[in-house]
Amino acid sequence: MRICRGIAEIREFVKAARKDGQTVGLVPTMGYFHEGHLSLMREAKSRCGCVVVSLYVNPLQFGPKEDLSVYPRDFDRDCAMAESCGVDGIFAPENEEMYPKGFDSFIEVNGVTARLCGASRPGHFRGVTTVVAKLFNIILPDQAFFGQKDAQQAIVIEKMVRDLNMSLSIVTLPIIREEDGLAMSSRNVYLDEEQRKAATVLYRSLGAFEEAVAKGARDVSELRKGIEEMIEAASGAELDYVEVLSVPDLEPLDVLEGKCIAALAVRFGKTRLIDNMVVEV
Ligand code: PAJ
Repeated sequence: MRICRGIAEIREFVKAARKDGQTVGLVPTMGYFHEGHLSLMREAKSRCGCVVVSLYVNPLQFGPKEDLSVYPRDFDRDCAMAESCGVDGIFAPENEEMYPKGFDSFIEVNGVTARLCGASRPGHFRGVTTVVAKLFNIILPDQAFFGQKDAQQAIVIEKMVRDLNMSLSIVTLPIIREEDGLAMSSRNVYLDEEQRKAATVLYRSLGAFEEAVAKGARDVSELRKGIEEMIEAASGAELDYVEVLSVPDLEPLDVLEGKCIAALAVRFGKTRLIDNMVVEV
């Protein structure tokens, strides 16, 4: 597995693979891998001859009060895990390589960024779309792989690709969970024992939502209230948002119809966790 720090170097590496007739898959990440990341790498490897994983904690997508400086990192362990999934190349640039002095161009997707994390983390998606567009331009992948864990992110990136005629396909893969249902996240390591136990309420409340929908519930404000009450009853949980929206437009609804998503963000102390559930009625 090749590890590249420079843009010119990873471009050469990918160019050689393409010259060999291989298709190129990209898995953008911020590292500190868990099974969620590995599931994307394995699927990428099953579809593409050459798989590049970008490993870059993108400062542009963190707010001033967010966890950029303490974001968990373990480069050697990450490389070993990626290699075990058959990854061909790691692109791990320094900040100066991605945002050299004078950098002043940004990608902004409107509409689908108005709610959920777009509303609660101002500037976050501008940072995500800017870095992902740069990664697409650097690697020129045929396919790029994202997780449903960050459902809004996947929708925003699909929209960017469509609106800006980027020449690749986006593959979105299911949420990988711990045995007790907690969605895997690099941020789960911040939780203490009590918070970790209480954090199962995210998935439990979404499960209850799914069950209510299966039994015929359609009133969005009632469904939303059901989730809210479960979160508020959990020890140490502070609700950031819970919304039930249409997919893929992420518009509010009064009555469930077609494809819909329940998405929520909950804080345990300083740790903010997100989860979601898609239903079709
Ligand atoms: P990061 O949080 O490292 O996630 C990298 C990819 O892994 C994302 O597509 C995310 O949705 C996916 N992922 C995370 N947890 C998952 C889980 N439990 N199951 C399935 N997939 C999961 O998302 C980012 O990095 C950044 O915003 C990035 C796109 C790299 C841009 O900087």
